[in-house]
Amino acid sequence: MGESLRIENLYVQFGTPGGQVKALNGVDLVLEEEQVYCLVGESGAGKSTVALSIMGLLPRSASVDRGSIIFNGVDLLKASPEYMQHLRGSEISMVFQDAKAALNPVQLVGDQLEEVILAHTDVSRRVANGMAQDMLREVGLPDPRRIMGQYPFSLSGGMCQRVMLGIALVLSPRLLIADEPTSGLDVTLQAEMLEMLRRLCRDQHSSILLITHDMGIVANMAQQVGVIYAGTMIEQADVMTLFKEPTHPYTWSLLQSLPRLDDIDRDLQPLRGTPPDMVNLPEECPFLPRCHKALSKCRVEVRPPALEVAPGHPVACYNPVLSGA
Ligand SMILES: Nc1ncnc2c1ncn2[C@@H]1O[C@H](COP(=O)(O)OP(=O)(O)OP(=O)(O)O)[C@@H](O)[C@H]1O
Ligand SMILES: [Mg+2]
Repeated sequence: MGESLRIENLYVQFGTPGGQVKALNGVDLVLEEEQVYCLVGESGAGKSTVALSIMGLLPRSASVDRGSIIFNGVDLLKASPEYMQHLRGSEISMVFQDAKAALNPVQLVGDQLEEVILAHTDVSRRVANGMAQDMLREVGLPDPRRIMGQYPFSLSGGMCQRVMLGIALVLSPRLLIADEPTSGLDVTLQAEMLEMLRRLCRDQHSSILLITHDMGIVANMAQQVGVIYAGTMIEQADVMTLFKEPTHPYTWSLLQSLPRLDDIDRDLQPLRGTPPDMVNLPEECPFLPRCHKALSKCRVEVRPPALEVAPGHPVACYNPVLSGA
């Protein structure tokens, strides 16, 4: 199996009245084919900015200062708008947190699906209509014919979520980016959606970049996990390693603060402090003020580089939590 996507040293800023927001500060990420990679981190860490960078959908206020995003052997940051348009929907597609907002409210569901198919293939409208119906059935919508003739506003949130997933998957993309696809859904529906994602991607041999801040979802879905903090990847590992040997103090604290079924009496430890100001980002480790393992070195040195504590397990920390410690 090869690589599906490789991001190297990605820097992105947003121009705002308050100054340049340094949203991504050297993000590295490799997604293997047919793999689910979970990108986790708290609000404002830069998760959606990574997703939008891949899709070529950053707002005008954003500038990409450095880095590359390699997909199909092409650096997407240098690709033409036409090429990006061709990729979106056919080879890379995305599902958003808020399906109702992402769908066109005044266009019939069926038309929205058919439009994607017709824009990227040579099939006839009749064939596209059949494909659209099949897809809606696959994402668990009963009576697809009737749904095709409805507007998104007349569907429930869960149904819209399924329609959006259908649109994202109808052309069997090689890469699906799902940005908090299930937050706001009830637990049963969330489990069903995740199972559907997993199944459809397995059948289509796609890979998934799944963005979430829910460690339960990570444990259920991921093969590989990346933890992002203040726009840098502070730890990456396979899912077993990450849960058994969280090595960056931030990852360690995140997992400490989770309730565990085998240890329900343990006190929850909410992470103290707040993330840094992304306009005036410090030179040193951005996690320093919240870190329980900080050394004097951490206060004088620049941000620690990500180094492998084991093969395939890079950690950006001068004083990592070593297993057994
Ligand atoms: N369009 C924008 N203009 C200005 N700043 C932005 C813009 N989009 C994001 N940012 C800033 O960039 C940083 C990263 O934001 P991003 O949306 O990528 O975070 P996130 O990890 O997706 O957070 P959340 O979990 O809340 O969705 C934040 O500081 C955010 O305020
Ligand atoms: Mg986001």
